[in-house]
Amino acid sequence: MNRQLRKGIKIIEPQPVLEGAGVRLRRSIATRALDNIDPFLLFDHFGSSNPDDYIKGFPMHPHRGIETVTYMIQGVVDHKDSIGNSGSIGAGDVQWMTSGSGIMHEEMPRAQQGEMMGFQLWLNLPAKLKMMKPRYQNIDSNQVPQINRQDGIKIRVIAGEVDGVSGPVTEIVADPTYLDVTIPPNGSFSHLIKQGHAAFAYVFEGKGSFGMNGEDKGKAIAHPRLVVFEDGDYIKATTANQPARFLLVSGKPLNEPIARYGPFVMNTQQEIELALEDLRNGTFVKS
Ligand code: FE2
Repeated sequence: MNRQLRKGIKIIEPQPVLEGAGVRLRRSIATRALDNIDPFLLFDHFGSSNPDDYIKGFPMHPHRGIETVTYMIQGVVDHKDSIGNSGSIGAGDVQWMTSGSGIMHEEMPRAQQGEMMGFQLWLNLPAKLKMMKPRYQNIDSNQVPQINRQDGIKIRVIAGEVDGVSGPVTEIVADPTYLDVTIPPNGSFSHLIKQGHAAFAYVFEGKGSFGMNGEDKGKAIAHPRLVVFEDGDYIKATTANQPARFLLVSGKPLNEPIARYGPFVMNTQQEIELALEDLRNGTFVKS
């Protein structure tokens, strides 16, 4: 079978954004340059060694109609919500939160010495599941399998499958892949992604070449950048004299209308208005 390489068709430079109560972060999806990559609605990278950049956090706020995925690299975020969950997300941990009909939660980074770093991704929910019961999957770092290949490549599998190893996040409608991949210098990594699924890489350390072959091979992409891949069968990333670390994310597009307003993403404007009305009336949280 002749497998088709997915080329990198867009390279996105993250934009500085002030979010929550005043958190400085870098946004690559949900910007003027890139509204969404169906089913992905937003992608934020927070990282700073100055607590002033993150300590104000994200006090109590609602979500409806989406899933939010937080993955920490360094530091700790304390969280609590309207359905009785509370805890902290530390280095290597993942929180996959399906807001469904609605949750209220807060996400507060803890002040610390050194670097605080993590990511938040939003996935859309299909119309028939937008009002589903909220669901949390909290995954400790030690539940995330790490593959150490002989060639020095390290892969943490959060969702999806690599070398027969499956990630702990399951039963997500977008059938997602979420990998944290480190390639040493002069390395090469390929990964099959289902045809028709949207895919992107977010480079957050070092540099590498993504979705390139032949004459383009020399064009390395230095962090931080998001690379959007075209459709095809597999992605390929290579490194030269530097290592590269990146997230590789893919998922099945919904192809449904998107009506978004802040933390609510529905299919129609009327549904957005209903969410606002529910908030005003105190009927937002259904369970
Ligand atoms: Fe949130």
